[in-house]
Amino acid sequence: MNIENFFAKRNRGVEWSGIRIMFALADEIDNVINLGIGQPDFDTPVHIRDAAKKALDQGYTRYPPASGFPDLREVVAEKLERENKIKADPDSEIFISVGAMQGIFNVMLHMIEAGDEVLVVDPGYDYYSQIRLFGGVPVRIPAKEENRFKIDPEDVKKAITSKSKVMILNTPSNPTGAVFDREILEQIAKLCKEHQIVVLSDEPYEHIMFDGNEHVSIGSFEGMKDLTISVYTLSKSYAMTGWRVGYVVANKALIDEMEKLMEHMVSGVTAVAQRAALAAISGSQECVHQMVERYAKRRDIIYNGLNNIKGISCIKPESTFYAFPNISSFGMSSWDFAKYMVKEHKVAVVPGSIFGENGEGFVRISFATSSQNLELALEKIEKGVAAL
Ligand SMILES: Cc1ncc(COP(=O)(O)O)c(C=O)c1O
Repeated sequence: MNIENFFAKRNRGVEWSGIRIMFALADEIDNVINLGIGQPDFDTPVHIRDAAKKALDQGYTRYPPASGFPDLREVVAEKLERENKIKADPDSEIFISVGAMQGIFNVMLHMIEAGDEVLVVDPGYDYYSQIRLFGGVPVRIPAKEENRFKIDPEDVKKAITSKSKVMILNTPSNPTGAVFDREILEQIAKLCKEHQIVVLSDEPYEHIMFDGNEHVSIGSFEGMKDLTISVYTLSKSYAMTGWRVGYVVANKALIDEMEKLMEHMVSGVTAVAQRAALAAISGSQECVHQMVERYAKRRDIIYNGLNNIKGISCIKPESTFYAFPNISSFGMSSWDFAKYMVKEHKVAVVPGSIFGENGEGFVRISFATSSQNLELALEKIEKGVAAL
């Protein structure tokens, strides 16, 4: 008996993440400096951990409400109004999810049917497996290096067909660190209203902004509230990737669907993690500012360092903790370059082609690691490319 013969056909669209494949390679080699990891290297701030410890003693050990604790949804609503300029009813328009990831997955599950076209940014975060799982067809919008990895609304216009149903936006962008300006988002909003396309706005890096750049939430625009599903997470802002708390803001009808399904799926987000999230959002934001300051210094090290290496050029990341340097002058695929760097020079980076076909010729470098590690990695990369 071969169990694989019983698998549902829809699973075939799901692929292993390329990042995971790269890490498996890096794991086989000792003393690798890993610039591939997409998570903060900081510990979760003390007051957030303390809140979780206290919550355990207070008895937050039972099933939570499926859409999240009401007081957490309340502080989320206040944060959304204050920071994102989105007004949402905490009782009916906010859903607490298992990180941004579950929010995104559930939205796709509720929205995408076979043949629906989903507009995605390329290079961009890898949403392809979820789209294909539900029979959706990804349609790529290029984010070109010459436009500092921002999309051109004209390209969006050209990609729209009668089958376009959802557009996934991720600004600030993983992997490029680009921020889509207000003007670009306004034009995209106009197109989406005109063609009735739902925007899934994935905003995990909203706080990690440099040089006074502004984070703009498309869901705050006139006439976009009901057409936008906005997804947020505590993972990156508060160094809480392991706690698995995020939230979705959407029209009541969709939040109802999500709550209904959550009961059958995981029943709710871990109670203690939700109490930690409450402390994070309602407490002082000084910890976030301090982490962002550290990322900004590291951004300068990696940006200057990469541009000083012959054959490499790098656009200055405006946000996130990723740089996306161009390595095309070496005439290798991004996979070959990444494999060479990890095997011969013990630095792990992520091949750009994982983020879409337009990511070929680039690699993603995470600077969520110490300055010393970055300096050392830059030396190794310099040595590596000189030997090519
Ligand atoms: C663009 C983007 N969306 C979603 C996620 C998932 O975040 P979470 O940890 O909240 O599930 C990530 C994590 O790297 C991300 O970069």
